Amino acid sequence: MSCDSEISIKELQAVFSPEEIAMRVRALAAEIDAVYGDEPLVAVCVLKGAVFFFSDLVRSLQNKNLELDFVRLSSYGRESTSSKHVIFNKDVEIDLCDKHVLIVEDIVDSGYSMRFLLAQFAARRVRSLRLAALIDKSERREMDIALDFVGFRLKKGFIVGYGLDYAERYRALPGIYEIIPEER
Ligand code: PRP
Repeated sequence: MSCDSEISIKELQAVFSPEEIAMRVRALAAEIDAVYGDEPLVAVCVLKGAVFFFSDLVRSLQNKNLELDFVRLSSYGRESTSSKHVIFNKDVEIDLCDKHVLIVEDIVDSGYSMRFLLAQFAARRVRSLRLAALIDKSERREMDIALDFVGFRLKKGFIVGYGLDYAERYRALPGIYEIIPEER
C-alpha cells in the first residue's frame, strides 16, 4: 500500500550538469560582488530547496562583511486561483532593518513564495532588497517578480536535484534533472 499518490517515473533526464551549475554559480557570485563589494550584506537562504545553491554561492562571494540567515516557508491552497497563502515556518534571526538583503532561492515558479517574502522583508525597512534565483521558470508564473540575479531560465519541466525535490526525493543529486513520467 502506498501512502501518497506519486507519479510513476520513467527516467530522469539531465538538464544541467554539476559542472554547468558550478560555472553559473561562480558567475553569479562575481555579479553579486560587483554590486555589493564589501558592503555589509545579509544573504538569506530559502530552505530547503536553496540549500546547495546557497552554500556554493556564499562560499564564492568575496564580501568580507557577509552574514547568513535562513527562512523556511509553507504554502497552502491551490495555485492558479490566486489564493495561494504563504507563511513563515521559520523566520530570519538577524534584524534586517537598514541592512542590504539578498534572498537566495532555488526556483521561482508561480512566484507566490517570493511575493510573500519580498513583501515581508520590504516592510522591515531594509536598506536594499534583491533576489537571486538559480532557476527562473516562467510557464506557471502568476506573480510579477523582479529577479536581480538568475542562474538559468527555463520555460517548463518538473525538475529535481541540487536541492530541488519530488516528494522530498532527489534533493542530493549533484546535477539538475527533468522528471519524465511513464505514459499513462
Ligand atoms: C519550492 C521552491 C521555492 C518555491 C517556488 O519550495 O523551493 O521555494 O517552491 O514556488 P512558487 O514560485 O510557486 O511559490 P517548496 O515549498 O516546495 O519547499 P522546499 O524548498 O522545501 O522544497
